[in-house]
Amino acid sequence: MRKVLLTLAALAGLGLAGGAAVVFLGLYNVSAQSGHLPGVAWVLHTTFRNAVELRAMPPDEVPDLFSPDLVALGARHYATACAPCHSVPGEARTATIRSMVPEPPRIEEAVAEWQPNELHWIVYNGVKMSGMPAWPAVTREEEVWPVVAYLAAIKEGLTVEEQQALTAPGEAPEGSPPGAAYCSGCHALIDSGVPRLDIHEAPFLLHTLSEYRDGIRQSGIMQQAASRFSPAQLEELAAFYAAMEPTGPASAPPEAGAQLAARGTGDVPACTACHGPGASEARGDFPALAGQDEAFLVTQLRLWRSGERGGSELMTQAAEDLDDAEIEALAAWYAALPPAKGPEAE
Ligand code: HEC
Ligand code: HEC
Ligand code: HEC
Repeated sequence: MRKVLLTLAALAGLGLAGGAAVVFLGLYNVSAQSGHLPGVAWVLHTTFRNAVELRAMPPDEVPDLFSPDLVALGARHYATACAPCHSVPGEARTATIRSMVPEPPRIEEAVAEWQPNELHWIVYNGVKMSGMPAWPAVTREEEVWPVVAYLAAIKEGLTVEEQQALTAPGEAPEGSPPGAAYCSGCHALIDSGVPRLDIHEAPFLLHTLSEYRDGIRQSGIMQQAASRFSPAQLEELAAFYAAMEPTGPASAPPEAGAQLAARGTGDVPACTACHGPGASEARGDFPALAGQDEAFLVTQLRLWRSGERGGSELMTQAAEDLDDAEIEALAAWYAALPPAKGPEAE
């Protein structure tokens, strides 16, 4: 028995010494020139595959992904966040990207062996020690679905023409600041799920863009977009959207939301006092809501209610007691109002 224990101790000692030699003497060659040793790539990929299968949500929790707006939003985010590594249908990866170890697969290959629930897990979590990044906003797991919807469209055989149509630039009149065509690609061309910017004033736009850039307001999509521009460029873009005159149709606003929006509570003023129409307590950095996208309003009210969007204590209090039906009624009412510039506008 003693002999066995001594042998085991000696082996453990040797193992530790070997490990220490690799770490401290630099014996392991980290060069990416030669790829992994035979077998290592297989071990890593099999570990990755099984880890995802174990942790992905059940398939019946996957929402409906067959919406053109969802696919378009995913495609436009993917174009700057993922395409540099995985490319898009019709384009090649650069020689430098193909020299990564492991090599990022072309997106058509990357999606082939995964289901939507697994793709959601991979894009939200990333893959450690591979170069595959995690979603930048840890509180916004639901925001990954548009990307999964786009990946599902690729799996269904998205053509090069369809790809180009999905990411065509938005309109940018002469004299627009750099980036305007890129921003408007999402903000003016996607019908649902993306907020309109033309109802906002410059202080709110600038404050919000800096919060995204610094990761204070979390959104993997907007943190990516805002981090591509300098503070001075964001200021120009804020001024550009603030100078736009909002136009667009209004529909008949449903009554239920009107009453809720005008009813304050003990500590909290009415929604309309801060957000309009005709706000009495608004400041430049308060957002207007009249004519705003309905799906966006629902998402933001849920984020305030669950404490995941910070930044305004009063707004957290205003939303914390709303139930789902009230959130939907308020969003439907504000979305149906005629779009107007700033919360003070009547
Ligand atoms: C810096 C390069 C890089 C970026 C940016 C990147 N990825 Fe990856 N991705 C990788 C690498 C490398 C792997 C391979 C991981 C492995 O096989 O171990 C990978 C793996 C994947 C896989 C799994 C494919 C497989 O190996 O089976 C999917 C799906 C994927 N990425 C989608 C995305 C999406 C969507 C984005 C953007 C939100 C993105 N990636 C951004 C490098 C990148
Ligand atoms: C890939 C699509 C996409 C692109 C490109 C994009 N945005 Fe956004 N933007 C969104 C989405 C989605 C949201 C909602 C994010 C959230 O939930 O916080 C948003 C939110 C915003 C908001 C907050 C509006 C509000 O009412 O709270 C501002 C301001 C904004 N974007 C400005 C910009 C500017 C400026 C650019 C260009 C630099 C830009 N966006 C590029 C999709 C995009
Ligand atoms: C005391 C003023 C105040 C009251 C009352 C108030 N809000 Fe807000 N609300 C704000 C401020 C300030 C923000 C922006 C905070 C930030 O971006 O950091 C905001 C943001 C929002 C947003 C996100 C809009 C966007 O474009 O990003 C929605 C939606 C919203 N409020 C709805 C409501 C509703 C519905 C009510 C009534 C139940 C309400 N608010 C009551 C001050 C208020």
